[in-house]
Order: sequence, then structure tokens, then C-alpha cells
Amino acid sequence: MLNNKVSVVYGAGGAIGGAVARAFAREGAKLFLTGHRRAPVEVVANEIVAAGGSAEAAEVNALDEPVVDKHLQSVIDKAGRVDISFNAIGIPDAKIVGVPLVELDAEQFSLPITAYATSYFLTARLAARRMVANKSGVIMTVTALLSRTGVPLVGGYGPAMATKEALTRNLSAELAPHGIRVIGLRPQAMPETSTIKEAFEPRAKATGVTWEQWQELLASRTHPRRLMTLAEMADVAVFMASDKASGMTGTTVNLTMGSLDD
Ligand SMILES: NC(=O)c1ccc[n+]([C@@H]2O[C@H](COP(=O)([O-])OP(=O)(O)OC[C@H]3O[C@@H](n4cnc5c(N)ncnc54)[C@H](OP(=O)(O)O)[C@@H]3O)[C@@H](O)[C@H]2O)c1
Repeated sequence: MLNNKVSVVYGAGGAIGGAVARAFAREGAKLFLTGHRRAPVEVVANEIVAAGGSAEAAEVNALDEPVVDKHLQSVIDKAGRVDISFNAIGIPDAKIVGVPLVELDAEQFSLPITAYATSYFLTARLAARRMVANKSGVIMTVTALLSRTGVPLVGGYGPAMATKEALTRNLSAELAPHGIRVIGLRPQAMPETSTIKEAFEPRAKATGVTWEQWQELLASRTHPRRLMTLAEMADVAVFMASDKASGMTGTTVNLTMGSLDD
């Protein structure tokens, strides 16, 4: 579905970035994988290459404009174009969640809003400048249910996710006339990721629920009464990145399995 699509993934050493990268590679994409630290990105790239795919790893801080720009130029120099940009970076929850809003200082509140919005803006803008020349491309990112629903003790994370979803709409409004689609994915919590275990810790302390009870509670809010897997999320990412989804832009795909109504 993604044969020879030149794809850049930011945060590719993470759970979602890694799963999306593997799924894109399986469908024939050429991957340029990036992350904060090179080592976890290299693990994913090596796995893809060992399976017969195409992947290169690079250390790129997705908040540093000149670094992102230089990396994208190197992609253009090697592959001739960029077809897909997927921003899957994640800020560690320990820096963001667990403090009631009335006690939260402004810096901690602003951190996720500034970091998530700026990184998505920078990676999208710099990719779009290259995509416009080909009159085609897909810009993607990932958000969470907290963009649209109230949850205690999550600080600025919900506003950060809502900001990214607004940016998806606005990017699309400007870029779709140039043949560039902009799509977000809003998955339900995937318990196989360390992110979700870390997000659970402050709740465990505040409420006394166990890890199993918390998973059951989240699952009980979905229609199939189970949480989604990384593989299921990545399969949707493949479809949305493919030409088969040419009718989709300016929206965030609701992957909450019924937990959140549109
Ligand atoms: N996991 C879930 O179930 C779930 C569900 C819904 C939404 N989400 C959201 O999806 C996003 C990704 O989640 P995840 O579970 O994949 O998180 P993750 O496993 O922690 O991965 C995040 C990745 O982003 C990288 N990163 C952080 N800052 C960066 C920067 N400035 N430049 C480049 N890379 C950077 C991290 O690299 P280092 O480790 O080197 O810092 C890490 O590899 C988060 O916003 C998360 O809240 C996750």
C-alpha cells in the first residue's frame, strides 16, 4: 500500500513511532527514522532492514528547526522527495502529569502544549515546503482521547492534544489545495506501551487502583470491552498514509473504539 513512499518518522524509537515505522516498511515504504537518541531508533531500523525493508536511522531533535531542516534536506538528497511525515514524539509523563491543576506551576503546564505543538508545527511545515513541489504528500501525527474529554491530574496534556488536533485542521485547510493531506490518529490507551504504564502511576497513588483494574476500567468504556493493540493502530496509520485514503484530510481519526463519540 505504500510502495516506495519516502517516509520520515519522528520519535521512531518510541512505541507508536516504532510500530508505525514497521508497518510502513512492511507495506513497501522507504523509512527515514529519527529520534532524540539514536540507539532506540537504530534498533527499529536494523529490524526493518533485517526483514528486507529499507530504513535509515538518524538522531534528530524534533524541536530543533535547523536540525529537522538539515535532516529533511538529506532525505531529499538521497531519495529525491518526501511523501509522508509522521510525528510520533512523546514527552515523558513524569514531567507533565500527576499534579492537580490548582497546584501546577505555569512552566509545567505549558511544557506539553509548547513542545507538542511546536514539534508538530515544525516537522509539518518543513515537510510541506518540500511536498508542495510534488503537489503530493501526507502529514500525520498522533493525539489522545484527552483532547476531547476531561480527565483529572493530566496538567497541560489535554490542551496539548487539542492544540495538535486544531493544527491538523488548519494545516489541511492551507495545504490540501496543494495536494497535501493532513491526518491525525487518536488511539485509545494501548497497555503494551510503557507510556500507558507510566501514565497510570500517579493515578495508582491517587486512587489505589491496581494496573489490572485500571486496564479493565479503560476497556469497559470501549464498545468491544477491550483496548486496542499497537498493530491495530499501525494498520490504520498505513491506510491513512496510503493513496486509498485520498478522500481523508483535515481530521483526526477516532480510534477510541467507542470510548469517545464524535
Ligand atoms: N502509548 C499509547 O497508548 C498512546 C495512546 C494515545 C496517545 N499516545 C500519545 O502518542 C505519543 C507517542 O506515544 P508513545 O507511547 O509512542 O511514546 P514513547 O514510547 O515514549 O515514544 C516517544 C518517543 O518520542 C521521542 N522524543 C521525545 N522528544 C523528542 C524530540 N524532541 N525529538 C525527537 N524525538 C523525541 C522519545 O525519544 P527518547 O526516548 O530518546 O526521548 C521516544 O522515542 C505521545 O504523545 C502519547 O501521549 C500514546
